[in-house]
Amino acid sequence: MNNAELILKSCEIPAVPMVAVKVLKLVNDPNTDIDTLADTIIADQALAARVLRVANSAYYGARGNIDTISDAIVMTGFMTIKNIVLAAATRNVYKNFGLLEEKLWEHSIGVSVAAGILAREVGGLSSEEATVAGLLHDVGKVVMNNSQPELFSMLTEMVYNEHITFAQREKEVFGFGHAEVGGLFSRKWDFPEGLCDVIRRHHFEQYDDLLDMAPTERTLCTVIALADALCVRLGVGYQGPMPDIVLRDDECRDILQIGDDRYAEIDQTFKKLYIEEKSSYQTG
Ligand SMILES: [Fe+2]
Ligand SMILES: [Fe+2]
Repeated sequence: MNNAELILKSCEIPAVPMVAVKVLKLVNDPNTDIDTLADTIIADQALAARVLRVANSAYYGARGNIDTISDAIVMTGFMTIKNIVLAAATRNVYKNFGLLEEKLWEHSIGVSVAAGILAREVGGLSSEEATVAGLLHDVGKVVMNNSQPELFSMLTEMVYNEHITFAQREKEVFGFGHAEVGGLFSRKWDFPEGLCDVIRRHHFEQYDDLLDMAPTERTLCTVIALADALCVRLGVGYQGPMPDIVLRDDECRDILQIGDDRYAEIDQTFKKLYIEEKSSYQTG
């Protein structure tokens, strides 16, 4: 057992509600029928409320007409249900903590929003999958913070003072990285294999390292890396903007073929959607 596995074993993290785990399993099973899924969601009232809220949102044009979970599932589709469940479960992991956790949460929301926009731009990817991957990409930081809070707060201080990213300093402090821990953790949560892989590899050293991945997963991994870089530059989840930090966003943009003009538009769309998305959690 290596250090990353040990930290995972020793740390206490709020368990993902059983309902969420069940729903994820059902959503991933092509034989699941709507009534079974609806019955499972109803077992968690907070989750049921959120599903109804999303189904009745302006995005689906239902304007308050959806009042059963079955109708909500039909309206939004299995992928959206999966996204809602993962978002709710992840939010649970971050709550009851202080300012640092709030920053980590903000960063997750930011990367999730940016990944959704980038997935739509790139094409060939599910923006729902990208949103979920963005939301969970740094879950390893939560594990590290929960298991060794003093060490993690020392790391955070270094990161803030030196205007760098966690990935640039964590290995000296912990001996391993949050991507590795996140990969192990998400496997423990029984997340889909592809998602675990993207979480584990989102700080890839070079693009060539991803060549053994399936093309869609490789693209998703690149999207997450770019979404992460976009947020880091803007300071989303960090102390402030870091416009001059050395990151690999140019390389990711080249691979994804996103030119300067499009990227500037993506940046603008992101700023707008990020504020909306953040406030949607704060109000409900
Ligand atoms: Fe990360
Ligand atoms: Fe990140």
